[in-house]
Amino acid sequence: MTETALMVDGLAVDFSGFRAVDGVSLAVAKGELRVLLGANGAGKTTLMDLISGRTRSTEGRVLVHGRDVTNWREFRIARAGIGRKFQIPSVFSGLTVRQNLEVALSRHPGVFANLRLRRRPADRARVAEVMALVGLEAEAEQEAGYLSHGQTQWLELGMLMIQNPSVILLDEPTAGMTQAETAKTAEIINRLKGHHTLLVVEHDMAFVREIAERITVLHLGRVLAEGSVDFIENNPEVRAAYLGTQGISAC
Ligand SMILES: Nc1ncnc2c1ncn2[C@@H]1O[C@H](COP(=O)(O)OP(=O)(O)OP(=O)(O)O)[C@@H](O)[C@H]1O
Ligand SMILES: [Mg+2]
Repeated sequence: MTETALMVDGLAVDFSGFRAVDGVSLAVAKGELRVLLGANGAGKTTLMDLISGRTRSTEGRVLVHGRDVTNWREFRIARAGIGRKFQIPSVFSGLTVRQNLEVALSRHPGVFANLRLRRRPADRARVAEVMALVGLEAEAEQEAGYLSHGQTQWLELGMLMIQNPSVILLDEPTAGMTQAETAKTAEIINRLKGHHTLLVVEHDMAFVREIAERITVLHLGRVLAEGSVDFIENNPEVRAAYLGTQGISAC
């Protein structure tokens, strides 16, 4: 049997009577990439907030590799192996790509102390590995402030990856990207498959088709359907609720 990395069981949150996430259950296998689909306001970001501890749930459970982390504080959930990438940039614009990754690798606080600490060969190798993974080797010595939007997003992904989280939550990773940047992001995410467990919220259908294995569709805070790309794009309920007349195949 495949191991479940992330288990969400009957999760709900009640915002003064409004249930933005209303009894969601899903199980993501170790190494699986799951896409979360749903219209604006369906509850996708809120679900990620509940999983990562940013928002406290009012019902249900979250388990990471069988460990119940429900309503733990955010930093403890991160330490338990759930990594989350936010839209808000967290790169240090005055540091180079390499230095940003060195800082992210360290668990010790204090940016400049970290730069001195991070000179061990094993750390250098890990930084090089992650730079290759996110395709920023040519920009290694460039200050992050001079990166393009796409490159900044890849650096942030690298800063998340370098901590080696077992479960990664990505909320609209291609937002604001050009077509070329979106295609490169699909390549990066496909390289992570099998090594990490990923839950990815995404609206761009072409991108979804590039990366998706299984899709979970949320609608009004609930799971409407779950299955392969083919199953989802041919599901009448999903088409009615979300995809409308422009099914995935029409994009
Ligand atoms: N703290 C909050 N208090 C009250 N309502 C909230 C709160 N956070 C989110 N909501 C509401 O919950 C619903 C789901 O929001 P959420 O941001 O999770 O949707 P989403 O699926 O991520 O949408 P989008 O595709 O636009 O990003 C929305 O109606 C939103 O207004
Ligand atoms: Mg959202």
